[in-house]
Amino acid sequence: MESDSGTNPQPNPATDASTDIDVGSGGRDRSSTDVDFDGVVLDDDGNKNQGLFDDLLSGEPIFENKEVLRPSYTPHELPHRNDQINRMATILVSALRGETPSNILIYGKTGTGKTASAKFVSQELESTSQKYDVPCEVEYINCEVTDTQYRVLAQLANTFIDQNQAVIADRLDRCRELRSTAADDSTALADTEFATLDELDARIDELEADADEMEEVPMTGWPTDRVYSTFFEAVDYHERVVVIMLDEIDKLVEKSGDDTLYNLSRMNSELDRSRISIMGISNDLKFTDFLDPRVKSSLGEEEIVFPPYDANQLRDILQHRADIAFKQDALTDDVIPLCAAFAAQEHGDARRALDLLRTAGELAERSQAEIVAEKHVRQAQDKIELDRVVEVVRTLPTQSKIVLFAVILLEKNGVHNINTGEVFNIYKRLCEEIDADVLTQRRVTDLISELDMLGIVNAVVVSKGRYGRTKEMGLSVPVEETEAVLLSDSRLGDIENAQPFVQARFDN
Ligand SMILES: Nc1ncnc2c1ncn2[C@@H]1O[C@H](COP(=O)(O)OP(=O)(O)O)[C@@H](O)[C@H]1O
Ligand SMILES: [Mg+2]
Repeated sequence: MESDSGTNPQPNPATDASTDIDVGSGGRDRSSTDVDFDGVVLDDDGNKNQGLFDDLLSGEPIFENKEVLRPSYTPHELPHRNDQINRMATILVSALRGETPSNILIYGKTGTGKTASAKFVSQELESTSQKYDVPCEVEYINCEVTDTQYRVLAQLANTFIDQNQAVIADRLDRCRELRSTAADDSTALADTEFATLDELDARIDELEADADEMEEVPMTGWPTDRVYSTFFEAVDYHERVVVIMLDEIDKLVEKSGDDTLYNLSRMNSELDRSRISIMGISNDLKFTDFLDPRVKSSLGEEEIVFPPYDANQLRDILQHRADIAFKQDALTDDVIPLCAAFAAQEHGDARRALDLLRTAGELAERSQAEIVAEKHVRQAQDKIELDRVVEVVRTLPTQSKIVLFAVILLEKNGVHNINTGEVFNIYKRLCEEIDADVLTQRRVTDLISELDMLGIVNAVVVSKGRYGRTKEMGLSVPVEETEAVLLSDSRLGDIENAQPFVQARFDN
């Protein structure tokens, strides 16, 4: 291998690739190198063929560390979130004084830095609690994944059971050590909480029993009240303040109602040793409307709003990340402002801004450009938009897909200002073709409104004078790609063959 790979702890793929090419072009004597040629295809002259990846690797890399632009990366600095972070800290500091912090509800649209800020604060809180040796813990739960009361309680219970087992093991070690010292030397018990060896033995038995009794909650199967009481006992096993962070709390409430929150918010009055405090994070500003008023007032003791970022703030955020993510001078000056501007239109979503920047870099890399430029950002914007549409269309319910297909057929046949009646007629034919249930025109109109809300069609209500009102619509997404996604659904695949038939209906 080239000598520079010895000084560079991270092998540089570009250099390594050119190394191989050097070897192939006869720059070195094969017999005297330790390069392993096994499995490498050589042509008649002993040259290694240009492989699939060689071209891609030969350009100068644009990224220094792409991971920094991925959503999984937690930044250490969060520009423009000082106010929110300080408010969280001001409320949660009581946990470090052994008091119960007020419950907090955090609101803001997606990509406004809620999760990143909450995780940052919880790391700080836990590290400070270790520093001062106060028992304070933060449990983070993503309710989009853990979306039922059972799972939330089971996950919490099992986390605490694990921790308790560690605490018990530690205490047992100390007791057993004391036991063996005290067996030879009875003065060893002086200054301990145990007056006699029997007391110490009893304590050891008790700890052993505790360890045996603590049974982990299985992921399904127990009645909820058993899960709840297991959790309750696990938390209350020793003194501590626990902050339970429920991220995407709106998803939990939407899916399973507010029982979990009701139960958690009432727990403190029954706990003896521990205290819990809830920090809920919601993307949906109106989600408390669905809550029981008692839950609502208890959960919303403190509310913190995360407003959308404006374009200037997004620029700062992107600049911080870009400095670590890209090689020096890998971006033209207009790249970051353009990503920021696009994302600012998208309700100030920092995730979108970072996605754009990363995708622009990837597209530049793929086209073997040496530098990321404005056109790559525009291509990235189109790509992300198309990916979104494809994903939304792919996951539509079958009935909505049929309705959408009807719109596409009309549009492809040159019909403009498509009205609901026209869609309904084609929809009916399509349903018959693929043996699907036919919904009423009223329901189909509702499905059209949903497609409108998803940004797939664009519908306006027009008045037809004394004939009442109707919706007129057009497709807001690219026809070809959307059609391809629809036809990739096995239920709709048959429609393709039905198309000439539908066509005939137009001609009549
Ligand atoms: N102020 C900020 N500084 C740096 N990065 C940020 C900031 N706000 C958000 N981000 C980044 O943007 C992305 C989305 O943020 P996130 O906290 O997940 O948003 P939310 O939870 O509000 O949807 C993450 O990659 C996050 O690291
Ligand atoms: Mg989040």
